[in-house]
Amino acid sequence: MTPNELTALLQSMSLDEKIGELYQLSATYLDVDAVTGPADELGLSAEDVARAGSCLSVTGAKVLHAIQQRHIARQPHHIPMLFMADIINGYKTIFPVPLGQGATFDPALVEECAAVAAREAAAAGVHVTFSPMADLVRDARWGRVMEATGEDPYLNAQLAAAMVRGYQGPDNRLTDKGRLAACVKHFAGYGAPMGGRDYNTVELSPRALREDYLPAYRAAVEAGAALVMTSFNTLDRVPSSANRWLLRDVLRREWGFDGVVISDWAAVKELIAHGVAEDDAQAAELALRAGVDIDMSTGVYARNLKALLDAGRVTQALIDEAALRVLELKNKLGLFEAPDKDGSEADERALLQCPAHRDAARRAAAASFVLLKNDAAFWPLRREETVAFIGPYAAEDRLHGAWSVFADDHDCVSLAEGLRAAYPERRMTFAPGCPLLGPDVQISAYQPDPLPDPDAALAEALALAARADKVVLALGEPREFTGECASRTDIALPACQLDLYRRVREVNPNVGVVVFGGRPLDLREIDAGAQAVLAAWLPGTEGGAALARVLCGDDAPTGKLPMCFPRGVGQVPMSYDHLRTGRPLTHSYLDARFCSQYIDAPNESLYPFGHGLTYTTFAISPVTLDRADMTAGGVITAAVRVTNTGSRPGTETVQLYLRDLVGSVARPVRSLKGFRKVTLPPGESADVAFTIREDMLRFWNIDMDYVSEPGAFEVYIGADSTTDNKAQFTLVK
Ligand code: GLC
Repeated sequence: MTPNELTALLQSMSLDEKIGELYQLSATYLDVDAVTGPADELGLSAEDVARAGSCLSVTGAKVLHAIQQRHIARQPHHIPMLFMADIINGYKTIFPVPLGQGATFDPALVEECAAVAAREAAAAGVHVTFSPMADLVRDARWGRVMEATGEDPYLNAQLAAAMVRGYQGPDNRLTDKGRLAACVKHFAGYGAPMGGRDYNTVELSPRALREDYLPAYRAAVEAGAALVMTSFNTLDRVPSSANRWLLRDVLRREWGFDGVVISDWAAVKELIAHGVAEDDAQAAELALRAGVDIDMSTGVYARNLKALLDAGRVTQALIDEAALRVLELKNKLGLFEAPDKDGSEADERALLQCPAHRDAARRAAAASFVLLKNDAAFWPLRREETVAFIGPYAAEDRLHGAWSVFADDHDCVSLAEGLRAAYPERRMTFAPGCPLLGPDVQISAYQPDPLPDPDAALAEALALAARADKVVLALGEPREFTGECASRTDIALPACQLDLYRRVREVNPNVGVVVFGGRPLDLREIDAGAQAVLAAWLPGTEGGAALARVLCGDDAPTGKLPMCFPRGVGQVPMSYDHLRTGRPLTHSYLDARFCSQYIDAPNESLYPFGHGLTYTTFAISPVTLDRADMTAGGVITAAVRVTNTGSRPGTETVQLYLRDLVGSVARPVRSLKGFRKVTLPPGESADVAFTIREDMLRFWNIDMDYVSEPGAFEVYIGADSTTDNKAQFTLVK
């Protein structure tokens, strides 16, 4: 349809039809076979349900075709429905959780994962995915850190844009086959809830919001994301779904976003619980005025907008503006001409978990693993070694993240399956040793299957450990411990697993630990006693196959931490790019006690942002700059030489950090501004150069202007955020 045809369509629609475009119902209301869904729970009539312009969480070409045909037939203007779903880390081929994808530091690979997810979900009839989740996360207590790509604004921005390109295509031509419209979420600041407790209050300064939390959403919008989802939380005590400043001033006026704003699940109705709306009617009024186009999964818009219009509390223009945006989105997807878009049972059969997609999943899983420690070259395992693989994750095949909504529970390749398939000739034994959770843990949301005889399981594991050259412990928190409504007050491994670790080490000190899960965990005791530690996250469909190859050396780990591993929950929230404070550890004018520190732990994380080892070693030369001063409009080239100083080929991710030594406001001790992967054979070197531009020095200054300020800057280039490999330049104006 042309814009004029769309406008004409809007003008020909009744008020009921226009309002119908502004609410979304879940699958339960639209079950083709159900006579009536729980519509009455929402006070919706059958006509209300019939008018819903979109639905979520139902997939499948055949089912969606039936829903679409019925909907179009009942629509006075035969306007097709939008089908949306949470395709977060894959549809049926499951990729590492986004936090694991963050560890790849590989935008092209993350884009490929999103593109595969789009091909599969589009074949299943889906039009929109509620991804990328671009929330910055610095608090490991929050269950949804698994769904984010980490603690750094720059890395998150790169990867959020990559996901949008993967879903929508580099040219954002949504009518093309295999594309999904991307919905960036949760706008804004949802990743910083107080206490790490989901849905809790977010208190951010305007400067912290703009400096750290908004860049990734903006990158997704600038990459062309077709939708934005409002977050559950308040910002400066204003719930996002009622935040006109956020939605109309920042998102639409400043950033130029002209797509659809959809609320999170019931977030419009929750304006009542927040205490900013007396009732549904006021909630609807506040949200529509703020700029929320679609009310997800409640009847608040459906039941109140007409009366609000009659009462003059909202205008026809507001309703038309929102309805036209939804029609424009349907038009961008080509739904008026092709209501089923890509939905095809034949394509589903051909694409879902096809070999090419599984290969992408295995490559992504391998690239997500982060080698945190590897003393005495514990890994890779040698062919002649007898190795006992012990722990509840050794044979666990539920390796898909909490938002793998459409995955089949036992679809993933477990570590044991991966090892047996690839290395049948090796001497390997396997035993769980303990359950994922012991009887001491009572978490209402989840109770794992208990082992039939825990004592026998432990005895079997210890016997295998005693007879092995090495033990690889496969430990981690249950996948149900992460995701939405899964905040924890502690980030320790389950006690039964720590006990297993201690008992195994008593019979065999040659222990390496693979840690699974969706958040950084407290690994102090593991780090102190294990020779090697590797973070595997929740690696998805091919997780075990990829891990087998990495542990046995056919692949090498290349991941880098996108979020630091704290020494314990007492340190969080934390991030590498903190401010210096007036009493840093290095100050010298007072007794050493009087500085910003703990009396019971160091300030630093256990494993820092950007950290990750591999099976060789690299040397990075001192930083050289091609000039000492940067003038307005000028650039500086910072370079290092990277050398593979080990005996195996390997990949290093060289990271560029900048530091503004003095600003009109306090500045971070450093900020990531670039990274480059370098793969080298043993003994070889490569030069890596970064171009530093003036715009990379800009920040929100004392007047809340986004500018650079003259003065001295330090350039750090190294293998993680703790590098002290630096040089200095001056910005002159
Ligand atoms: C959930 C989540 C959001 C998701 C939506 C639809 O509550 O907060 O991320 O996309 O509802 O499932």
